[in-house]
Amino acid sequence: MSISLAEGIRDIPDHPSAGIMFRDITPLLADPEMFEEVITQFVAGLEGEVDLVTGIEARGFILAAPVALALGVGFVPIRKAGKLPYETESKSYQLEYGEATIEVHKDAVKAGQRVLLVDDVLATGGTARAGRELVEGLGGKVIGARFLIELEALEGRKALGDLPVTSLVTY
Ligand code: PRP
Repeated sequence: MSISLAEGIRDIPDHPSAGIMFRDITPLLADPEMFEEVITQFVAGLEGEVDLVTGIEARGFILAAPVALALGVGFVPIRKAGKLPYETESKSYQLEYGEATIEVHKDAVKAGQRVLLVDDVLATGGTARAGRELVEGLGGKVIGARFLIELEALEGRKALGDLPVTSLVTY
């Protein structure tokens, strides 16, 4: 029997503000069969193709860490500004209102390493693009991106250019 991942995603209207439909993945994460299915689909075809997996704070961490273990490679956190303790590289990007900054440790990626980017949601793509730029600024090569959810109307794939992108549930 195939698993419908969409059934593990709960719609929360008007969160965090009026007019926003929040896609809540906590029911999926609480179901070990669904959670495992996500990781299985994320790693398909990537064995031996990746040297590091990077996840973007906060929900990206939850998905990226098991992907790294499944592939037998390390995990690198990309965090919101001010959270990482060692020397960092930063990248700022535009949000609908205002700006956000994410950071990675300077020594987290070595030149030439093949890096998979993982996050829960691809919306405008601004976060993932900034993450890609951080990794590539350290000399890494982002070989692909995996998202549980893609909000297609926001055209986040365009922000990622030629990067191979896989998403499992689209709205
Ligand atoms: C959400 C989501 C992605 C990002 C996608 O993160 O987890 O990281 O937005 O949006 P974009 O494609 O328009 O950049 P959020 O900032 O809500 O962080 P959180 O996981 O810490 O809640």
